[in-house]
Amino acid sequence: MAFQKTILITGGAGFIGSHLVRLLVKKYPKYHIVNLDKLTYAGNLENLKDIEDSLNYTFVKGDVTDEKHVDQLFTAFRFDGVVHLAAESHVDRSIANPMSFIETNIVGTVVLLNAARHHWKETAGKRFYHISTDEVYGSLGETGYFTEETPYDPRSPYSASKASSDHLVRAYYHTYGLPAVVSNCSNNYGPYQFPEKLLPLVINNIRHNKPLPVYGDGLYTRDWLWVEDHAAAIDLIYHQGQAGRTYNIGGNNEWKNIDLVQQLCDIMDQLLGRPAGTSRNLITFVKDRPGHDRRYAIDASRIKRELGWEPAIQADEGLRRTAQWYLENTEWLERVTSGAYQKYYEEQYGGE
Ligand code: NAD
Ligand code: TYD
Repeated sequence: MAFQKTILITGGAGFIGSHLVRLLVKKYPKYHIVNLDKLTYAGNLENLKDIEDSLNYTFVKGDVTDEKHVDQLFTAFRFDGVVHLAAESHVDRSIANPMSFIETNIVGTVVLLNAARHHWKETAGKRFYHISTDEVYGSLGETGYFTEETPYDPRSPYSASKASSDHLVRAYYHTYGLPAVVSNCSNNYGPYQFPEKLLPLVINNIRHNKPLPVYGDGLYTRDWLWVEDHAAAIDLIYHQGQAGRTYNIGGNNEWKNIDLVQQLCDIMDQLLGRPAGTSRNLITFVKDRPGHDRRYAIDASRIKRELGWEPAIQADEGLRRTAQWYLENTEWLERVTSGAYQKYYEEQYGGE
């Protein structure tokens, strides 16, 4: 089949990537979507079972740091665009082992930038879209928001590696004219998130009557966005965002960790038919994360004003849908938690 466009999605077997791949494969039957993923502990092809046989979808197992392989893929597929999500994504792991974050998040991004630069002699119609995080902006006090002009101030090895890759992407735009765009998004939640991140971890531990570890005083604040809303924003920015521009994406949905965990406990008690308050009893305050950022909050007015994007799913519905999905997909949960992650978690928090 002659495709209209061929787009490389990196990290498409991960949490956000799988939602994006699903959206693009279904919405654009004339696009060829090529998913390059190393399938680390965080990547699961099971996340894409429903679309894996689609005629406009190809999976390639590979590492974004592998220059030769990436170059071969650019030659073979003649990509029109790249949406780069592949990354080591968990802050706690970056504290335990920063080097893999440097390799994948920084070196991997440069490998992709170089490939795009060398293969795209003509840049009309081309796009290099780098997916990043609000964590690059550092930590806020009780008030204020991150805008696209907020100076970078990353504080964890994860956010420092993402900040570095963001700078490199912008440098390639300015230096080589690579048609690049960057978006910085707040915390995503929803189906297929690996249960080391707060929400699926809490849901999974409630299922097993295990302690729910809340770091420090629990008053750390995050802005939460339904993952499909992020995928929709990425689709929009890919097609309509301006090269050289940055877009902040947020849910306008701030929660203190303890309030979010309590809310989820109440939803889980209802869904599991347990007496109210059962799950809250599992909440356990544990040692704080080193260098823990106090508050993230996004000013997403640019993407609303310029591209007309707003989150569609509000917190009540999103949290309920999330809890419901994990309860309906316990096999997925069991499988992804049976390996390396379980060992790591037990070492850190003495889980059962
Ligand atoms: P994830 O950890 O769920 O998925 C990452 C994917 O990348 C996995 O499929 C993994 O196998 C793959 N991968 C890792 N190293 C690779 C390598 N060297 N080569 C090829 N593939 C590799 O992450 P996520 O939560 O879906 O995040 C995706 C992107 O979005 C990341 O760049 C992250 O920084 C960014 N982001 C995430 C959030 C969030 O809340 N999860 C918020 C803002 C931005
Ligand atoms: P996380 O899901 O790791 O995302 P990020 O650190 O990228 O924001 O954590 C969200 C918040 O929840 C963060 O403030 C750390 C906190 N947290 C806990 O309190 N307990 C936990 O077990 C985890 C994983 C996170």
